[in-house]
Amino acid sequence: MSENFDAVDIIRAKRDRHELSGEQIAWTIDAYTRGVIADEQMAALAMAILLNGMDRREISDWTAAMIASGERMDFSALSRPTADKHSTGGVGDKITLPLAPLVAACGVAVPQLSGRGLGHTGGTLDKLEAIPGWQADLSNQDMLTQLEAIGAVICAAGAGLAPADKRLYALRDVTGTVEAIPLIASSIMSKKIAEGTGALVLDVKVGSGAFMKDAAQAGELARTMVGLGTDAGVRTVALLTDMSTPLGLTAGNALEVRESVEVLAGGGPADVVELTVALAREMLVAAGVDDVDPADALADGRAMDVWRAMISAQGGDPEAALPVAQETQQITAGADGVLTRLDALQVGVAAWRLGAGRARKEDLVQAGAGVELHAKPGDTVTAGQPLLTLHTDTPERFSRAHEALDGAWEISTAGAHVPTPLIMDRVSAD
Ligand code: URA
Repeated sequence: MSENFDAVDIIRAKRDRHELSGEQIAWTIDAYTRGVIADEQMAALAMAILLNGMDRREISDWTAAMIASGERMDFSALSRPTADKHSTGGVGDKITLPLAPLVAACGVAVPQLSGRGLGHTGGTLDKLEAIPGWQADLSNQDMLTQLEAIGAVICAAGAGLAPADKRLYALRDVTGTVEAIPLIASSIMSKKIAEGTGALVLDVKVGSGAFMKDAAQAGELARTMVGLGTDAGVRTVALLTDMSTPLGLTAGNALEVRESVEVLAGGGPADVVELTVALAREMLVAAGVDDVDPADALADGRAMDVWRAMISAQGGDPEAALPVAQETQQITAGADGVLTRLDALQVGVAAWRLGAGRARKEDLVQAGAGVELHAKPGDTVTAGQPLLTLHTDTPERFSRAHEALDGAWEISTAGAHVPTPLIMDRVSAD
């Protein structure tokens, strides 16, 4: 593309609250990818976008430009429809693990490109890598073959998908501009649209353990992403779900795989089952399948059969024992009463400090590390009963995990607990 525009003019335009044209946006993303726009200029533009926003047309053009920076995958040759799920990230969010095989067991293929965790939220690939032998990297052809044969793939996104986003996301991370809703929405949706799925269900988390701490912000993000997907021809629906307390009873890689297998075996914590089935229903309907109940495929073992096949196809041994941390410490309840609060962010930070997550991209994670919950908000507890078990291979980490958990829960002897609904809202294009 020739240099028809000047980066400083574009920064000034957004600084002064003007709309950017489609041509200006296409040039900006392309010029940044080619190195013609410098990082400091893109940082200034990202801050102007954070402060002054973008309208739906601008966000749509920005997303299209990011998609055009890389390859687009195409699953139209598959014999069944496709649907994918994206979660904005939370503590104990292992839903992708039971969900992908469950949806595949109901006749819809799931091409799930996932990432590794950074900070207090875990990454799906880190969890699956706790399974001995399992490999995250697949070629596009291997992915297609596995999708046709088994119906579900969870693998690492290749470097070719929306490369402009990789550079821009790293820049936003160090310039205080991650939180801009137009930039979050276009970052997530450019990768999902480039991935080529026919339908997409978004799980937008709300609460202390999520990106979006309040429902109004999360709703705006959900509406923006649903609009982008719809404009790009992807049937897109979003659920707003509670992330004020961890999902399920585990946060940590192997611990979460164990819990996911319990769900696939027809058991597991009620909140994980509820969200897995609700997201599966949305994915099936968005893909045009509305005569199958995913709860049946969970109960009768069909989803477990797909899980085993999916793990084996990527070199994993679904029957192998999962790694277990070398050391554990228990935290007990200090009083009798009802547990009224157990903070997601604090549990997530504790799991991370125990070794379940990484502070920098290149850090290694401990497969067995994490936090196990023995009670959830709403449960009655008695003084001295176990509340949490901390798991790590490196016991010197316990004290920092305890610090993270300081004030993380409340036990009330009075007043009833008012539970927050797990599924708080639904956003669709109609
Ligand atoms: N996840 C992404 O992929 N991009 C963002 O901007 C935020 C979360």
